[in-house]
Amino acid sequence: EWADAAGPRRLLLAAPRSFCAGVERAIEIVERALDLHGPPVYVRKQIVHNSHVVDDLSGRGAVFVDELDEVPSGAVTVFSAHGVAPAVREEAGRRDLRVIDATCPLVSKVHAEARRFAAQGHLVALIGHAGHEEVEGTLGEVPSSTFLVESPEDVAALPADRPVAYLTQTTLAADEAGEVAEAITGRFPDAVGPHTDDICYATTNRQEAVTGVARDADLVLVVGSANSSNSRRLVEVAESRGTPAVLIDGPADIPLGRITGARVIGLTAGASAPPAVLDAVVDALRGLGPVETKEHTVTVETTEFTLPKEVRTP
Ligand code: F3S
Repeated sequence: EWADAAGPRRLLLAAPRSFCAGVERAIEIVERALDLHGPPVYVRKQIVHNSHVVDDLSGRGAVFVDELDEVPSGAVTVFSAHGVAPAVREEAGRRDLRVIDATCPLVSKVHAEARRFAAQGHLVALIGHAGHEEVEGTLGEVPSSTFLVESPEDVAALPADRPVAYLTQTTLAADEAGEVAEAITGRFPDAVGPHTDDICYATTNRQEAVTGVARDADLVLVVGSANSSNSRRLVEVAESRGTPAVLIDGPADIPLGRITGARVIGLTAGASAPPAVLDAVVDALRGLGPVETKEHTVTVETTEFTLPKEVRTP
């Protein structure tokens, strides 16, 4: 029936999509901190890379800052889901900040791997994107031993004086990470990788789901903010399957000119994009004419993370 060109427009929803367990946890930490301590609660960097989440929490008394020197000493301060370098923790200690750490446990795992490999005398090649907060935090664990590798070309510049280990940012596209890892093992055949893939379950599942959706869609809309790494990767993954894809922050960004010719529209949302924003996009599309929705489900997620003790209720 999905091949039928007439009739209502079809919306094919990728599942899983939208919030992952690490994002849900990070948002809940800020909400609970606000309940427990009252505003203002300072948050270093965007708690997750989504404009709606940041605006909503700002409205409830969270104050987002770029660096800790903007936080009054002694204040309640949340570290974002992307993690921080040890130097940031040290500064927070010097300033007597009451830190609540919302770093995703799967990012903390990569930090621990970086420390372990460096302690074993490895050069740590971190596959990731320059400037992303997660990468800055991981690079900061053992700065003298860790080198960022963005592309296969960067591998040639790595020093060859130590055994090599590699790690990845949690939100990379599996294909691009694989290419760089291959370049590393091509030049350093003894290079060791992480125990299990550093690309997290939520990134993997959303990429698999959008791949299936892209196969059947004329156009894919990815709900997410422009600075969200995992959302941008979803656009690239859809495009790599030959389907045009557009990143939209919300209903206002729906590319009307491109919707007209699309009979089947694939929809997904990055791990930092609220389900309510995706629902609003579906409603807006419904406003343009009759639609039928269908889900393409690759797996059902059950991952949950416990909250840090500072905000846990007994
Ligand atoms: Fe964590 Fe992956 Fe989400 S690293 S914050 S579960 S995208």
